Amino acid sequence: GNLSFTTSYQTAIQSAELIIIAVGTPSAADETADLRYVFASAKSLAPYIQENAIVVIKSTVPPGTLEKGIEIIKEATSTKFYGASLPEFLREGSAVHDTLNPDRIVIGATENFVFEKLEELHQKLQAPVVRCKVASAQMAKYTANSYLATRITFINEIANLCEKNGADIDEVIKAIGHDKRIGQHYWYPGLGYGGSCFPKDVKELAAYSRSVGESGNLLNRVNEINSNRIFYLLEKFAKKINGFENKTVAVLGLSFKPNTDDMREAPATKIIPYLSEKGAQIKSYDPMAKYSMEIKNHQQFATIEEACNNADVIMAVVEWPEIIDFDFAKVKNSKTQFFIDCRNQFKSEIVKSWNYQYIGIGKR
Ligand code: UDX
Repeated sequence: GNLSFTTSYQTAIQSAELIIIAVGTPSAADETADLRYVFASAKSLAPYIQENAIVVIKSTVPPGTLEKGIEIIKEATSTKFYGASLPEFLREGSAVHDTLNPDRIVIGATENFVFEKLEELHQKLQAPVVRCKVASAQMAKYTANSYLATRITFINEIANLCEKNGADIDEVIKAIGHDKRIGQHYWYPGLGYGGSCFPKDVKELAAYSRSVGESGNLLNRVNEINSNRIFYLLEKFAKKINGFENKTVAVLGLSFKPNTDDMREAPATKIIPYLSEKGAQIKSYDPMAKYSMEIKNHQQFATIEEACNNADVIMAVVEWPEIIDFDFAKVKNSKTQFFIDCRNQFKSEIVKSWNYQYIGIGKR
């Protein structure tokens, strides 16, 4: 009974003490954040805003956006209102859990009244609250995502070096992870980061760095490395298996990560067209995502068994439990078959005991 929906700005806004703008901020052609939906909602809500309402931007936006939004509202009304930034840090596939169990609540504002009101809103969650400047809150969101993306890129770069010298990246991670400053978590190497957030936010912060005269900023390079990562690996895999031409390849996992059907910046969207162009037959599988583009020699199947039937190469692209728990001995045929473990989720000895030629990331 606490929740109702409407498509009317008037109904939603006229009695609201807090107004949360949570619209999308996709990347524009020049890779900066496209803020038109944020400003359009500011313009649409402005006529109905009540005295002392707080307009909160939850969308991921660069510093300066709240101020512009406030100006837009002021053009339409003389009612007194406040502004704040309240970035979200949710992951896809666990958004409800992350909402109810946040690591922190970040509130960017200038007035005490606003901090207090927004703290009250989150009181039940009992999470640490960081009160800060508006620009700091906006930077905190970009910084968190860019840091995690850089961490992934860093370990992928180290994995490349391990392949040159016989070290095993998983052992390296274990060894360095005992340093409490570093930790074991959140850096399995793989195909690079994907999804709707990391690629976009790194690109946007890199574009922002260029726009403020910091074009040598590290994030420009992180973005470049990650964008090339899949092609770099595909060329490497191609060498190891003597080319993809005329090979039947099972691509297991189409979403950008498990527990979502989201294919934005998913590795499969680059891998499948690449394999098709190289003359492979592609048979894909995903428990949830549907590959909607027509690609020559590609067909999606409903089961792992069907996708792997007659395959020369199996590529485990996404760490869905259905895929990592599957017994691939069941689909082994009499050919020499390669098993490419794109996320290092399998034990090489086990895959070899099933009679596949194992190819992992950052290990020989
Ligand atoms: C991310 C952030 O985690 C979240 O805090 C933010 O609000 C939105 O962006 P999400 O995009 O849902 O969330 O995915 P996440 O699980 O963090 O993974 C992002 C990408 O990094 C995926 O492509 C994943 O495969 C990749 N990844 C993650 C790695 O390659 N290695 C890792 O160790 C972790």
